[in-house]
Amino acid sequence: MKTAICYYSRHHGNTKKLLDAIAREGDIALIDVTTRQSVDLTGYDCIGFASGIYGFAFHPAVETFARQYLPREKPVFFLCTYGVTKGRGAAALERIAQEKGCSVLGTFGCRGYDTFGPFRLVGGIAKGHPDDRDLERARRFYREISAGNHSAEEPEVK
Ligand SMILES: Cc1cc2nc3c(=O)[nH]c(=O)nc-3n(C[C@H](O)[C@H](O)[C@H](O)COP(=O)(O)O)c2cc1C
Repeated sequence: MKTAICYYSRHHGNTKKLLDAIAREGDIALIDVTTRQSVDLTGYDCIGFASGIYGFAFHPAVETFARQYLPREKPVFFLCTYGVTKGRGAAALERIAQEKGCSVLGTFGCRGYDTFGPFRLVGGIAKGHPDDRDLERARRFYREISAGNHSAEEPEVK
C-alpha cells in the first residue's frame, strides 16, 4: 500500500516522532504541509493527515491542505498528539473527507509533551511522550488499517 501522510508538527516535534516510527512500516511518504507548495496525491492508495492538537483542533494548515489536495474517494486516516485530550480535534477533517466521498479508516492519538501557556510554568505536561509504548501503538494502528482491520476509534490512553 502506497501511503502519504500530510502533517504539521511544530510544538516539540511530537507528531513527527510518531510518523517517523510509522514510516518504517511500509511505503510511506511524509509530507510537511508547511513546505510543500503543491502536491499530487492521486498516485497514493491511502492518505493520512497528522497534527498536534492546537486549540482543540488539528492545525488549520492541515485542514487547508486537505481541502486543496485530497483527491475524491481515497481512504483516509488521522493521527494526532495532544497535551490533554484530542477531543473532537479531527472533526473538520472528517467533514472534508465526507464531502470528498473518502472513507475514514480510523483515528489514532496519543499524548505529546506540552509546554503551552501555563503548562510551561510547571515544566510541561505529558513529559516523555510520545514514548516507546505510544510509538508501538501507532505502528500497530497503521499495520491494522493497512490490513483492513481497523474501523473503530482508538480509546485515549492517559
Ligand atoms: C498553541 C498550542 C495550543 C494547544 N492546544 C491544545 C489543546 O487544545 N488541547 C490539547 O490537548 N493540547 C494542546 N496543545 C498541546 C499539543 O497538542 C501537544 O503538545 C502536541 O503534542 C504538539 O504536537 P507537535 O509537537 O507535533 O507540534 C497545544 C499546544 C500549543 C503550542
